[in-house]
Amino acid sequence: MTSRNALEIVGGTPLAGDVQVNAAKNSALYLILASLLTDEPLVIEGVPRLSDVLIALEILEHVGVEVAWEGSDVRLHARELRATSAPYRLVSKMRASFVVMGALLARAGEARISMPGGCAFGPRPVDRHLKAFAALGVEVSDDNGDFVARRHGPLGGRVEFEAPTVGGTQNVLLATALGGRDVEIENAALEPEIADLADLLNHMGARIEGAGTPFIRVQGVERLGGGRFRPIPDRIEAGTFMLAAAATRGDVTLRGIRPEHLGAVRDRLAEAGVRFVDVARDAWRVDATGELSAVDVTAVEYPGVPTDLQAPFGAFLATVPGVSVVRDRVYPDRFTHVAELQRMGARLELAERTLVVRGGPLHGAEVHAADLRAGGALVVAALAAEGRTRVFGLESIDRGYERFAERLSGLGASVARLSSVDPSPVAEAVGVAADASAATVPAAG
Ligand code: EPU
Repeated sequence: MTSRNALEIVGGTPLAGDVQVNAAKNSALYLILASLLTDEPLVIEGVPRLSDVLIALEILEHVGVEVAWEGSDVRLHARELRATSAPYRLVSKMRASFVVMGALLARAGEARISMPGGCAFGPRPVDRHLKAFAALGVEVSDDNGDFVARRHGPLGGRVEFEAPTVGGTQNVLLATALGGRDVEIENAALEPEIADLADLLNHMGARIEGAGTPFIRVQGVERLGGGRFRPIPDRIEAGTFMLAAAATRGDVTLRGIRPEHLGAVRDRLAEAGVRFVDVARDAWRVDATGELSAVDVTAVEYPGVPTDLQAPFGAFLATVPGVSVVRDRVYPDRFTHVAELQRMGARLELAERTLVVRGGPLHGAEVHAADLRAGGALVVAALAAEGRTRVFGLESIDRGYERFAERLSGLGASVARLSSVDPSPVAEAVGVAADASAATVPAAG
């Protein structure tokens, strides 16, 4: 455990009340990159102030984009670029930064990007991005660990992804929306963040058809303009709140959601016995006060259960009596949370990329979030567990959940942010950690 920042959660209270879901991190990250495609101002509304978003904005500033927060909106103005490279210091912190390659290629004709970093789970290559660029005539070379991409004229042609990739599809959209030629994308990713990017680009004057289906057609245009745009709500944040409500046997109303983006998550939870009430076009009441039973969950591409909710689902199922099986077909090795949940008393067996969960009571412990969604899972488990849990690795959680402590507190949970605390030498059951009251800081994201 290296991180000394933690969330301290005293679990066992059913969550209750209303929560407003934020704009989607995984959409906002790419929408802000679209600012590179125009010399006019672009305002992205309601952007969550997450560390990943701040890294993307720093990359944009580095290449010459003027960035200004106006409340929760971000105003971006790429009048003129002064660089076409993204510094390793930033790219190494976040995988999504590789998608700046497409936007820089479109605007400047060249880009130099390091091999991306990001959440530490399993292999996360970029080969499909590079093959797609090659198919469009982009020259990509490797220069001391940096990818250097160049185009000679506008990009055109046909890209066929061997398997869908969200980032790869976004990279191609950003690279080709601006230009004079036609591009066909086959086997494109279906995730709603793709359609959201295409909607923004079309709003700026692009001609993109079919986003959200496996076949996308881009007719490159000579010029794109600015505008204002609001990202879709964060379906992963919404799903995490749903699972936290379910794990604590709570009764929570989610507001500001797009129900059609959450169908598979709702279906699985409903099968487990959670009741849903449609209280408005964009609001669901999630009532988990009845009896719940085990269900199997396999994370797949959209519209299935998202891989980003696979770990939080496992945490919820660890509280439900019976045996569940959890698999992830998108990131089959995304299980860094398993050993940590076991420290909380979860009965889990991981073999051949299949997690068998025998549900039962959980207890508080000191645990470490190795990546963002492992963090989401540990928070879900901690909210349901008897006693006090400290989730170290708060930096991972801050990548994707804005003001998480404060918002969970608003639902009745006991959650505090701790900074500069040391994990106790024997970190096991409830109560082993030193007194944290002096280190408690306001629950802000
Ligand atoms: N893949 C390759 N080669 C590539 C690209 C992807 O083999 O060139 C593989 C990946 O290893 C993975 C699968 O294809 O097995 C899907 O990867 P994809 O490219 O779709 O993922 P991504 O674009 O890198 C985004 C989200 C992830 C989310 C995935 C899947 C962002 C910033 N990240 O990643 O979100 O898990 O899509 O939906 O949009 C998170 O928010 O915690 C997170 C990791």
